[in-house]
Formats: sequence, C-alpha cells, structure tokens
Amino acid sequence: MDKIIVRGGNRLTGTIPISGAKNAALTLLPCALLTDEPLTLRNLPRLADIDGFQHLMNQFGVTTVIQGSRPEDFGRVMSLEATRITSSVAPYDLVRKMRASILVLGPMLARMGEATVSLPGGCAIGNRPIDLHLKALEAFGAEIELAAGYVKAIAPDGGLPGGDFDFPVVSVGATENALMAAVLANGTSRLFNAAREPEIVDLCNLLVAMGAEIEGIGTSDLTIHGVKRLHGATYRVMADRIEAGSYACAAAITGGDVVLGGARADEMQATLHALQAIGCEVEEVKGGVRVAANGPLKATNLTTAPYPGLATDMQAQLMALLCKAEGTSVLKETIFENRYMHVPELSRMGADITTEGRTAIVKGVSTLTGAEVMATDLRASMSLVIAGLAAEGETQVRRLYHLDRGYERLEEKLQLVGADIERVGDD
Ligand code: EPZ
Repeated sequence: MDKIIVRGGNRLTGTIPISGAKNAALTLLPCALLTDEPLTLRNLPRLADIDGFQHLMNQFGVTTVIQGSRPEDFGRVMSLEATRITSSVAPYDLVRKMRASILVLGPMLARMGEATVSLPGGCAIGNRPIDLHLKALEAFGAEIELAAGYVKAIAPDGGLPGGDFDFPVVSVGATENALMAAVLANGTSRLFNAAREPEIVDLCNLLVAMGAEIEGIGTSDLTIHGVKRLHGATYRVMADRIEAGSYACAAAITGGDVVLGGARADEMQATLHALQAIGCEVEEVKGGVRVAANGPLKATNLTTAPYPGLATDMQAQLMALLCKAEGTSVLKETIFENRYMHVPELSRMGADITTEGRTAIVKGVSTLTGAEVMATDLRASMSLVIAGLAAEGETQVRRLYHLDRGYERLEEKLQLVGADIERVGDD
C-alpha cells in the first residue's frame, strides 16, 4: 500500500494537464454493449475505475484493446468490440469494487433483452440506492426482479416498448441507464427532470455519433426515438471538470497561479464562481482555464446542487480551501447524506470545522499543520492533499486506492507545478 507525502509551503505555478473525465468514461464504456461494431474511446484517463470497468466488459465477452501509448502520456485509447456477448451477468465480486458497474444494466438490457447485475450496495458517502434506475427501466416496459442480492431486468419479447419517466429526484446514474436503454427501444421514450451534468451531454453526443436519435440534449427534458441498431464510433472523452476544479483549489490554497490545461470553463461555471467569491482570479485562456490567488482568501457560503449548481464532487476540495480563508463559511451538502468524512481528518490538521447534519461551518485559520491522515473516499482524499499543500510540515495521506480511483498520476501532475509531493511505499 502506498502513501503520499506532501510538504507544504510551495506556491504552485505553471500548467496542469487535465485528463479525460472519470464520470464520463464510466458511462461511455458500457455503450460498447449497444452495438456489435467497434467503439473506440480516446482520452480515457488511466484510473483504477477504468481498469475495473474494462475487466467487467471482458467478463461479458467484450474484447478490449488498449492502443499504444507511451508511459509518460496522460490518458490512452481503448477499442471495445461486443461482437458476441457471452454473459449478461455482472457478478458481485466485480460490482462491489466499483458501484458504477450498475451502468451496464440499461445497455445490456437493450442489447440482450435481459441483464443481471449485483446490487451495488452503499459506500462511504451514502447508501446510494438504485430505485430510480429500476423505476425508469420499468417505465420503458422492463420487468424487474430482485433476488439474492442481484437485480434482473427483462424486456418483453421483441424488446423494450419505451415510455415516459419523470424523475422525482435528479439522478446522474439513473438518467444514464435510462438513456442507454431507450436508444434501442421500439418506440419513443421521454425523460423529465433528467440530470443535465456535462457527462450526460457527453453520453448523448456519443450515442448520437453511434446513430441514436435524441432531442433536448443538455436540458432536463430528453426525448429518445428508439432505432433498430447502432453502429460503432470513435469518440474523445470530455475533460474532467472535477479534476480541474480540484487542482484549482490546490493552486489557490498555495497562493498560486496555474492553467488547467484542456479544462472547459463553460462546464465548470459554478466552481469558477465559487473560486472568484473566495478571491481567486479566473480567466479563460488558450487551451484551458487560468486560476490565480494573489490576494487573501475570503470566506463564502456554498451549497451543492445538481448541475448547473455547484457539484457535490467539489464540496470537500472547496472546504479544504476555505479552511485557510479569512472569516466563517457555511457549506450545505444537499446531494449525499454523509459527505463530511473529510472533516475529522482536516480537523486533525488544525482546521476549525463543525458539522450539523448536512451543514458544515468552517472558521478560517491562519495555520494548518501537517499530520498523518487517512483517506475515506475519493474527494475527501483530495481535500487532504489540498490542505497538505498549504500546511506547515509534512502530511502523509494513506489508503491511496481512493485517490487512484479518480486522479490520474496526481503526484506527477502536482510536481509539474512545483509541489513538494511524493508517493512512497507504506511500510
Ligand atoms: C454520480 O453518482 C457520480 N458518479 C458521483 O461522483 C456524483 O457525486 C453524483 O453523480 C452526483 O453528481 C459517477 O458518475 C460514476 P446520483 P450517482 O444518482 O449517479 C439519490 C465521484 O466522486 N438516488 O446523481 O450515483 C442518491 O442517493 C462520484 O466521482 C436515489 O435516491 O449519483 C443521491 O442522494 C461520487 N435513487 C442523489 O440521488 C437512485 O436510484 C444523487 O445521486 C439514484 C440516486
């Protein structure tokens, strides 16, 4: 098991290359199931979750080929070919390691007429139910059976008729599963109050490139006209707006000035507005977004919300930044019920944070001190690295498997802009 050692105090300056988006890649990969022709995805991030999904696709008989890329390159190209699907079952031992596996349910159902997926279970940030995934598929005409920890979805003979579904709660994953099921349905399907995250737009753009007919892309009302078959495509995964926002916080807490290479400002407006409220300078530049913190950091109040609101995936990282801001900030986490696992660890570094339910009150402090800290989930681990970059002394972050799920070669990227950070074996 590795650990990361960060010695705080260095000002980050320069360009950080942003990788392909994990949360787009994890919904683009299962689209390979929707056709017997090759699907080639470019700019895939090198992440544990992507490796896990590749292994899951192999489990179904999908062939996958990683096209040549040099070790020093960020990202890679993967071609997937689902000519013959030999299994429509996603087993427990794979799903329990990566809950995004649930995203094979819709496309497998659409392609094979049935799909069986182990129930993903909860994780550190909440119990993460999948009831909306199942209700949407039922609205399209699927029959859903729950037994022995698995969910089985079955389409009527001849395939899904399609239908309408109005989401009572905005759900990214349920919207993605519904879209991937509807594109091969026999009729037209409509989704209301669908998620509008840029990763959903990326999915819709890929599906259209494969021959799907989707109206309302980018809005919360989507209409999908089912087609008989989809063809292969070559598609470039969008840049990771959460990775970009995370590195923006890292630069800001050090009083730095960085360019997030490849980031798209129009996909991260809420994060950029939060950074400006905290006192950062934000500028769209050729090839990316520049974020600089030349003056004092100021407290501000933040509330997470479905896109285009402030991403819940940015809450922990912004909280770390606010630990060093002048004044008191109030954060409200409206999406997940337990997404403050980073608070006790930040407090061990001298942060002054109190939580009451889904509200966190952050009183800025002048000094954070390095400590041995434990990562608990992906974004919480990043918040500890961000705090470590500004802390006095050395911070050791353990349980790096959380970080490696969502941040491609994090220490190399931060070294590029002057951070004193290294990954070492954890004796
Ligand atoms: C996606 O998770 C992301 N993961 C999450 O990123 C992200 O935090 C989340 O969307 C919200 O933006 C991937 O894309 C792989 P939801 P997802 O369904 O789809 C409730 C990260 O750090 N809900 O939009 O699981 C749910 O409990 C990860 O990269 C139901 O009640 O999120 C939550 O409270 C963490 N029933 C809310 O909706 C359902 O059937 C939003 O969840 C589904 C969800």
